Amino acid sequence: MHILVTGGAGYIGSHAVVQLQQAGHTVTVLDNLCNSAEEALLRVARITGTAPGFVLGDVRDRQLLDELFADNRFDAVMHFAALKAVGESVRQPLRYFENNVGGTISLCQAMERAGVFRMVFSSSATVYGDPESVPIPETAPMGEPTNPYGRSKRMVEQVLTELPRADERWSVALLRYFNPVGAHESGLIGEDPQDIPNNLVPYIAQVAIGRLEQLSVFGSDYPTGDGTGVRDYIHVDDLVDGHLRALEVIRERPGVQVWNLGTGRGYSVLEMIRAFEQVSGREIPYRLSPRRAGDIAACWADPEKAGRELGWQARHGLERMMADTWRWQSRNPEGYRKG
Ligand code: NAD
Ligand code: WQD
Repeated sequence: MHILVTGGAGYIGSHAVVQLQQAGHTVTVLDNLCNSAEEALLRVARITGTAPGFVLGDVRDRQLLDELFADNRFDAVMHFAALKAVGESVRQPLRYFENNVGGTISLCQAMERAGVFRMVFSSSATVYGDPESVPIPETAPMGEPTNPYGRSKRMVEQVLTELPRADERWSVALLRYFNPVGAHESGLIGEDPQDIPNNLVPYIAQVAIGRLEQLSVFGSDYPTGDGTGVRDYIHVDDLVDGHLRALEVIRERPGVQVWNLGTGRGYSVLEMIRAFEQVSGREIPYRLSPRRAGDIAACWADPEKAGRELGWQARHGLERMMADTWRWQSRNPEGYRKG
């Protein structure tokens, strides 16, 4: 198939391009590079032996989209392009809604005009808000996401859910990611935060490499085993494998399907620190700090539906997630900027 990958230069998108190409698909990336570097796509080409098509541009640019769809016969779209910094979304809600919701609407309109009706969308476990219980199945009520970023994901899910009601040619996969971590085993591509990382694993990795001094552990009084927050960390390559399987399933199945992509098991912040120390051999200095606003105590997936319907399950354990993160970080201490 020929797949349009929006946000394909980003962390998860670049890993998706690798697997799509390795599975024999043709890929065109549309990315405005607002949170990524073209170098990621050069690295993808080193891994796969084939450079993906690349169009520098914005998913909100209607004219560009029409030209892109006119020039190519896409079979499906994997839509990763979005802004994702939770704290920033609180300060700049309009920018987040415009980019994430507005961008998706422009993209779907262009798809309709071009007669392309298959989309795999990057949603998030954040749509569950503070869950009533764990593990979380897809049938759990959508909670109240605690920030505009999370609400933008919930809104997009609502928008996409309407499409097959109006036109039965649409087939949409809403993939609710838990906490993606890790990197491609080559060490060539990985997560490259442009600023101080918001997320735990890139923060730990930058402490380990000496770019940051100390990790703040946000909250040690949660009702969890050791008092620190518990999350379902999933290797990015397992996550991406779920996308390829979802693509196959929606090819034959119109409508909207929702799948959790998580491992089904949670780890605490302190367990994550210890696991990283073990694989890297580096000490991670940390300090117990107050809770971060908007954080929940514990969140992990019930991945049973994805197992049954996609024939998918996460294969890589925590040690592999950390080893791959460390290989990427230690070989690219400054991310894509050097090396
Ligand atoms: P990322 O920032 O690395 O990748 C997003 C890419 O989209 C970047 O390359 C950016 O330049 C591009 N982009 C953003 N706005 C664009 C626009 N208007 N037009 C064109 N390109 C644009 O983030 P990621 O971690 O790879 O996340 C990919 C997707 O997965 C996002 O939709 C994100 O919300 C979602 N998601 C991520 C996580 C996570 O923890 N990383 C968890 C759940 C869901
Ligand atoms: C994990 C745990 C923190 C940083 C966020 C978004 C969510 C999704 C993924 C996109 C928590 C603790 C973290 C630090 C810490 N993104 N922590 N010190 O908060 O589960 O999810 O990213 O959809 O929407 O909210 O991930 O990696 O930020 O935090 O102690 O410096 O690590 O409190 O318990 P989170 P995270």
